[in-house]
Amino acid sequence: QRQWDHDYYQLMEKTAQFYQQQLKQPKFRERVVTYLKDRGVSGEIARDYGLGYAPDEWHSLQALFGHDQSINKALVDCGMLIEKDSNRYDRFRDRLMFPIRDRRGRVIAFGGRVIDKGEPKYLNSPETEIFHKGQELYGLYEMRQFQRKSEWAVVVEGYMDVVALAQFGIRNAVATLGTATSSTHIQQLFRVCPKIVFCFDGDRAGRDAALRALNHSLPQVRDNRDIRFMFLPDGEDPDTQVRRIGAEQFTQDALKSPSIFEFLLDYLRGQVDMDTFEGPGQLANLAKPFLALIADAIHRERFIQQLAMQVGLSETKLNQLLLGADSSSG
Ligand code: GTP
Ligand code: MN
Ligand code: MN
Ligand code: MN
Ligand code: MN
Repeated sequence: QRQWDHDYYQLMEKTAQFYQQQLKQPKFRERVVTYLKDRGVSGEIARDYGLGYAPDEWHSLQALFGHDQSINKALVDCGMLIEKDSNRYDRFRDRLMFPIRDRRGRVIAFGGRVIDKGEPKYLNSPETEIFHKGQELYGLYEMRQFQRKSEWAVVVEGYMDVVALAQFGIRNAVATLGTATSSTHIQQLFRVCPKIVFCFDGDRAGRDAALRALNHSLPQVRDNRDIRFMFLPDGEDPDTQVRRIGAEQFTQDALKSPSIFEFLLDYLRGQVDMDTFEGPGQLANLAKPFLALIADAIHRERFIQQLAMQVGLSETKLNQLLLGADSSSG
């Protein structure tokens, strides 16, 4: 198995280099480089992130690698070729390519964006032997190449968000790969910095993503760890926001965004009307599953105190309600 993994990594690296070279081909340059320029991505950043272009052809990888059966089979296993009715063809065609590297810098997958408009907007490598989606963070390797240790990291949704922030000098952004933030993601980040700021899009999907990130973060609250949630105006994402307000303001907003417990408190308060008879009971029902996730007892106690104070209940009363609450709801 190890032997094969080694070959997969080599194929992926060679493919990434091939895509990168295509960016410079005169016949593609105009269109793709213009697109990157229009989105404000410089040659330097494109190089740092190894951006490339997959040509609008069905057999560019077979032309590159030749027709050796075991190599072709490996390219299918890596998700680079699609096999259908004994035909094999390129998965990625006419797309801007983002190589996804693991923490050691090995290319394990790609994200591909249509140039301008088309469906689907993004195409990602499938889950493979070397690519486990829920565990990888786009940009983590590049962030650590830039700076071994950083004070904080910002977690965003998209490849372009990572690249745009880097363009503005914010080199500590990573993206979850179209999947929810996982516990593994958070653990990996806390291994390299003490502070995580989640910054998802200012839309419905972004707010849902924040709630899921909250759920996976609560068990990982500890002393000396700082988890924050930055909320963007409706319709903005980190890419558009940093262009709008600049790097300095973006960084300031990120660093003073609501802490995980401020976010949880606001969320809970927003869900119930404490002025009604049922309010306090509903609050307890809703809060209980979240409280159960806070593994650290001191932080849990402190949060219960704050919650009680903020909603105008005594701590004793809130604890009574929590004891009686139905923990399966929420
Ligand atoms: P830009 O339009 O290039 O700025 O992309 P974006 O990153 O702002 O797109 P969006 O907010 O719509 O999506 C965020 C992330 O979700 C993307 O970076 C992708 O990882 C993923 N995603 C978006 N659209 C698709 C899609 O059509 N298919 C898949 N598989 N993933 C997608
Ligand atoms: Mn594996
Ligand atoms: Mn979005
Ligand atoms: Mn977006
Ligand atoms: Mn965007």
